[in-house]
Amino acid sequence: MSNLHVFTDYQSQCQEAAAHIAKLINDKPNAVLGLATGSTPIGVYQELVRLHREENLDFSQVTTFNLDEYYPMEPSAPQSYHRFMREHLFDHINCQNWHVPSGEVRNSDQIELDCIQYEKMIADAGGLDLQLLGIGRTGHIGFNEPGSPLNSKTRLVLLDYQTRADAAADFFGLDNVPVRAITMGIGTIMAAREVLLLANGIKKAAIVHEALEGKITSKVPASLLREHPNAQFFLDKQAASELTEYARPWLAPNADFRDLTLRRRALISASAEVGKALNKLTANDLQQVGLGAFVHQMPSLEAAIQEVERDLQSRLDDNRFIPEKKNILCLSPHPDDDVICCGATLYKMNERSNNVTVAYGVSGSNAVRDKDVLAMLRTRHPRLAKYVEENLKEGQSYQDAFDEIRQFLFEREAGQPDNLMLRNLKRLVREGEASDACRKIGATPRFLDLPFYYSHESKSQAVGDGDVKIMLQLLRDTTPDIVMLTGEKSDPHGTHEMCEETFERAAKIYLQEGGKAFVRWEYRGAWEEYQAGEGDFYSIFDKPLMEIKIGIILDHISQLDPMFPGTTDPREFYERARDRNRATARELQQLGVLPPSRSFDPIYAEAFQVDEGK
Ligand code: F6R
Repeated sequence: MSNLHVFTDYQSQCQEAAAHIAKLINDKPNAVLGLATGSTPIGVYQELVRLHREENLDFSQVTTFNLDEYYPMEPSAPQSYHRFMREHLFDHINCQNWHVPSGEVRNSDQIELDCIQYEKMIADAGGLDLQLLGIGRTGHIGFNEPGSPLNSKTRLVLLDYQTRADAAADFFGLDNVPVRAITMGIGTIMAAREVLLLANGIKKAAIVHEALEGKITSKVPASLLREHPNAQFFLDKQAASELTEYARPWLAPNADFRDLTLRRRALISASAEVGKALNKLTANDLQQVGLGAFVHQMPSLEAAIQEVERDLQSRLDDNRFIPEKKNILCLSPHPDDDVICCGATLYKMNERSNNVTVAYGVSGSNAVRDKDVLAMLRTRHPRLAKYVEENLKEGQSYQDAFDEIRQFLFEREAGQPDNLMLRNLKRLVREGEASDACRKIGATPRFLDLPFYYSHESKSQAVGDGDVKIMLQLLRDTTPDIVMLTGEKSDPHGTHEMCEETFERAAKIYLQEGGKAFVRWEYRGAWEEYQAGEGDFYSIFDKPLMEIKIGIILDHISQLDPMFPGTTDPREFYERARDRNRATARELQQLGVLPPSRSFDPIYAEAFQVDEGK
């Protein structure tokens, strides 16, 4: 697709999108822009603000129309798209003529009239020159959920469950997320002279694949954009990762099988597809699954298979991958990603006399239930009671402070964030749990409490120099030989991605100032898992170690029955970890590189991507 542009990272994706918009404004100073909210365009707005400040990009004659707004929604509420647009863009540029559909409460006749008026304003402005879009995991554009008619116009709509679940963290709980919204229609979007859809992050990969390579259908509203005469799709590598070219490169017409990694992945996928162990694969099987070119390029298929088997087997070897007496730094975005994803391997690392530090990126306080804090305060949990006692106001007793917290909880409005006292108590809950877990794996905990985590209150939600400074200090203090990072970016609030960005910025400075080079490991398991063939090292373990791992995950008591389950996956985190680790081991068993096991004595595997080169 010539209108598909894949960027190595979010930053370059946003810079390019902003440059595209800036060019339009320079060519047509009174351009009419359709704008979007959500996490996706934040970087584009940052870059537009920079272009305005540093390169005099002039918005004085520009008119903008936003796609949508929740309903009901006060414009000043922290979650409102009015507020979002002011904070991310309009407070920082010279654009006066901007519009966002109103979410203020009114009767349905009035809403209908306002929607007609919104369409009229767009038409009177001359129609949209360019519509900027994100994509929801339902495939929605604007808030046009699956089934939205092609000719739909601005109207009041119902939001899908998935869309509301994805917004739950912003609203401090699913129940606070409005069920309705006002959105431009598909027809309004399709009438724009150009559309620019942006998607980033692994959590968008599946829907991007459906929208760009599946059927063109109103069941996947974004797929309809393929019929737009001038649609551009800007993706980062992660969002593009399920497109055939990236997900199954061995099926590409120009696949070059001199590359062992490609041979390995091709054979693993063939083996899974035909349901045979590697050493049972025949030339015929490979032809059947579209790997005729592989057979053709290999002088001996048998030798090629044996080589891949040997390679894979060496990837199950602890002795090759787990060092001794080294400094290991595991960066866990939330307090529990570490144990869910690498609990068994951290345990093994400690057994080999490594010096293991687990650094927790954010406090995770948003995911602690109010009632759990109240229960702990009432029973005077030592850690929490100590904090309350140390922070008593003058003349206040413990009971007074407890009553004050309770009063705040009962009086606060839906969606209002925690006050400082409550936030700190919740932080302490999670720090206590993580400290217990670390003790069992012999690791030293470090709580970074990165400030960006709290910035959703001001909707700034960007990694700042303060975050980077904390991370840099961590690297200087721990001088790691291996850094374990999350390779999964699908957490509901984008926290994993922001922790990663913080790390990348800090690591760059650390290495520039002469810090020791380190090997990177990436892990998954809390929200998703590597597919067969994607791992570089499979850390194999038995049932007793899985029991220890589950015990450690269960130390995170506040995360039982999680507040932000993220997907529709109803399983507890320890169940997800157990099932995923079992499934990974089972895949290796089916490939024939790991011996079979009895059902009462299963084998498990944690998968890692190891990059020594970066
Ligand atoms: C925003 C909008 C939505 C978002 C989509 C993706 O105005 O209409 O369609 O673009 O939900 O949201 P993020 O970017 O937060 O993943």
